[in-house]
Formats: sequence, structure tokens, C-alpha cells
Amino acid sequence: MRSARPLVRPTGFDRMLAPLHRWIWRDAERRVHKLIRFGETETDGGRDILRAAEVTPDPLLRRLYLVHAIDELRHGVLFRQRAASLLPALPSSSTPKFRADWLAPAGHGLDDLDVDGESDEEMLAFLHLSEKAAASRFTIYRDVMRDDPPTYAVFDEILHDETSHMNYTLVQLARVSPEHHKRRLWRARLSRLWKAYLRVATAIAGVIGGLVLMLQYFIILPPFAWMARRTARRERVGWTTIPPGPDSLTRQF
Ligand SMILES: [Fe+2]
Ligand SMILES: [Fe+2]
Repeated sequence: MRSARPLVRPTGFDRMLAPLHRWIWRDAERRVHKLIRFGETETDGGRDILRAAEVTPDPLLRRLYLVHAIDELRHGVLFRQRAASLLPALPSSSTPKFRADWLAPAGHGLDDLDVDGESDEEMLAFLHLSEKAAASRFTIYRDVMRDDPPTYAVFDEILHDETSHMNYTLVQLARVSPEHHKRRLWRARLSRLWKAYLRVATAIAGVIGGLVLMLQYFIILPPFAWMARRTARRERVGWTTIPPGPDSLTRQF
């Protein structure tokens, strides 16, 4: 273990949720599935930042984005390797149960990124806030992993990189937008807040939708099923002769 001191002070909200995160990560199956999911998120984020390196006109940003992308791709490998080493201890019938992804997201929120439509300023503001959120959450995740030193070490190593990503993006934002960087950050904050609201609202809508369908199944459908059975009992068994009509030979039915 490299360090037990937080490199970033987690937000009050993340600190408040620490007991919940402890519960989420305590389950061995969920831990493996979450590590795999985290690996996917880091790798996807790395690909997006690689794309940002391709499209930026700024040579310094291109170099920094390339280093950043390599870090994120390496994080993906670290998470997947740790998940793979935990996998043999799981029962063979293991399936993902309640993964609590919206309660314990994979840190970055880089999946919200639309690289081709963003200017350098917007990209840096978005990246800074995403890395800051990741550093805050990874500090909590690392600290709840004290009973699992190898996973603790993975989070600790990644946390060091996320902190440096958080810092370089802020420095570069101040360089490319010296007069408006604070406004850019506020706009990016509001955009993240809106997307977070949409994520929570979607999750709640999913739960409510499930409940409504269940109520329909148990309350509205039974009377129809009962009527269909009653009608079926009245039907005569076997073939029923239908008297021929005047145009029975000219119609298909
Ligand atoms: Fe990362
Ligand atoms: Fe990062």
C-alpha cells in the first residue's frame, strides 16, 4: 500500500455515503462485477480522450491527452486484472445481482462525453470535474477496501493518477481560457448536475414502471383471465358446422 492519506478530500456527499459503499463492496460477487464494470468505464474513457487528442488543434493538449488516455487504458487493465484474480473464488453460477451502479458509479462520468462536439475549453472543464469526482469517489472506495489489500492498492494507484488528471486539466483550462475559465467550470457543473438528475430520474422511473406493470399483472389481468376461461367453458367441443351463406363461395372467410 502506497499511502493511506487521501490525496483529495472526498465531497461531503461521498463521505456521507461511505457506509453504503462499504455495504455495496462487501459482497464478493458484487465486488467482482463492479471491478469489471469500472474497467470498462476506464477503457471507454481512455478511448474518448484518445479521440480528443486527435481533434484538438493545441499541440500541448494533444501530448497531455495522449498521456492521459494511456493512464485511463492502464486503469482499465488494472481493474480487469484485479477482477480476474477474484473471479476463481466465486461460485460458478455467479450472476450479477443488484449492482447499485447509480449509487456507486464508476467514478468519471466520462461516458457523458461527446468529444467531437466540444471545444478545448469545454472539454477541459468537463474533464476537470469528472476527474475531481473520480478522485473523491475513489478515495472512499479505496478506504472501504482495507480488508482487501490488493484491491486497496489498485484504487490507491489509480487515485494518484486521477488526482494528477484533475490538476493538469485545471491548469490547462486556465491557460486556454484565462478570463472565462471559472464560468466554463460553472457551466460544466450545471451540465453534470442535470445529467445526474436525469440518471436518478431514469432509475426512479424504472422502479415505478416495474411496480405499475406488477400491479397491472396482479390486479387488472386476473378478471380478463377469469372471463376468458368462462367463455372457453361455454364453447362446444370439436368442429362446428357453419350454415353456408349466399356469398360463401366468393369470400375467403
Ligand atoms: Fe482513470
Ligand atoms: Fe483519470
